[in-house]
Amino acid sequence: MEQLMAVILAAGEGKRMKSKKSKVVHEACGKALIEWVYTSVDNSGIKDCIVVVGHRADQVKERMGDRVKYVTQERQLGTGHAVMQAEEFLKGKDGYVMVLYGDAPLITPGTIKSTIELHKNNGNSVTIITADMDDPTGYGRIIRDGQGNFIKIIEEKDTNPEEKKIKEINSGLYCFNIDVLLESLKELNNNNKQGEYYLTDTPEIIKNKGKQVGIIKIADPNEVIGINDRIQLFEASEILKKRILERQMRSGVTIIDPKSTYISNDAVIGMDTVIYPGTIIEGTTVIGEDCVIGPNSRIVDSRIADRTEINCSIILKSSVGENTHIGPYAYVRPESVIGSEVKIGDFVEVKKSVIGDKTKISHLTYVGDAEVGSNVNLGCGVVTVNYDGVKKHKTHIGNNSFVGCNVNLVAPVTVNDNAYIAAGSTITEEVPESALAIARERQVIKEGWVTRRRIKK
Ligand code: UD1
Ligand code: CA
Repeated sequence: MEQLMAVILAAGEGKRMKSKKSKVVHEACGKALIEWVYTSVDNSGIKDCIVVVGHRADQVKERMGDRVKYVTQERQLGTGHAVMQAEEFLKGKDGYVMVLYGDAPLITPGTIKSTIELHKNNGNSVTIITADMDDPTGYGRIIRDGQGNFIKIIEEKDTNPEEKKIKEINSGLYCFNIDVLLESLKELNNNNKQGEYYLTDTPEIIKNKGKQVGIIKIADPNEVIGINDRIQLFEASEILKKRILERQMRSGVTIIDPKSTYISNDAVIGMDTVIYPGTIIEGTTVIGEDCVIGPNSRIVDSRIADRTEINCSIILKSSVGENTHIGPYAYVRPESVIGSEVKIGDFVEVKKSVIGDKTKISHLTYVGDAEVGSNVNLGCGVVTVNYDGVKKHKTHIGNNSFVGCNVNLVAPVTVNDNAYIAAGSTITEEVPESALAIARERQVIKEGWVTRRRIKK
């Protein structure tokens, strides 16, 4: 049966990153470089993917999990040597393998698909993706003869001054016939400036066997940028960011200032939502329609329903209902569930709590480990005292309750439905339904006290 496979090279150290981390786990727009490559491979329809790991293999494996198979390249002796390590998976297979580098995250599924198609249709043994780069420094160059036929790829370090001027670069992305690749790898040597086994020598070997080498020169060189240092990481991030924002705008989201807006590739945002400047939307966040998000807000792995406003606030791993207003300056911490038509106002922190529909928590309040019913009003400065120095405890507040300003609710404690709590109370015991609780010293008046003090002085 004809196989369609991919091998992603990710064993290199990436010295030019100057990092303790593997280069391919560095992130662009919230996703590791290798994950970008893998996602494009997966979306192009290739389901059998092998990753060559070596330097900091642990980090790459942690990132990719069981989505792919792994082979280890113990010593990094070059890109050709890296592919040799995948032999056990390729041997005896009939079909095609895409070879990609884990540090080239901008390739699109469409380009991978059309490369495989052209490779098959033209009966090529290998097809190389190339592009013309304004500044080809650092890339391997494509050497062609007078008629434009492929001769070989030459690495930057092995070029002469004439060859250095060539603008057509090797992207490092290829489609091979599996058997032809394995055969040609056997003939590689390391007689070059870097003393490495270059994968880039295989097309010339294949051509010299009288087999067909094809080239796809793509129009947009941005698709094949390789990332070797943190400046290129920034450049690639900018391109990815632009792709993501443009996709959101095309699907009906208004982004007031794309320069200061960051949205993850996996975020889903509804039509007619407006994103104000300084907004960061991360992870698998889902935002509904007609929302107003920002300015200066950060939302991570959360769900925000339709017509909700998030103003200058942070929401982490939580959900927020419809027609709710959050902020300015609210902090919603993980595992919170906030209902519909709720108001979470300025300097309110909510942690691991459920807040019922139509509840108002307007200012300067801490709600932690609490279940707050619907239509509740928490006055300014209410604090759930959830921590006794050893353990966290829960606070329950029933529906339609009214908690006055500056009330401490010392957990574990329950306030039942329709209860009222007087301002300044410190509540340590259960408050019955429809009761008023007052838990504070009575006010004492000492008539003439100030005047007497002055006389004494
Ligand atoms: C490589 C190509 C070059 C191309 C460029 C495109 C070679 C010899 N050169 O150069 O023609 O223009 O990419 O970006 O292939 N790797 C391993 N094991 C190794 C060495 C590298 O797994 O022993 C992996 C790295 O982790 C990396 C990828 O292969 O993901 C490319 O290696 P890198 O050293 O960055 O190659 P370049 O010098 O950029
Ligand atoms: Ca590279």
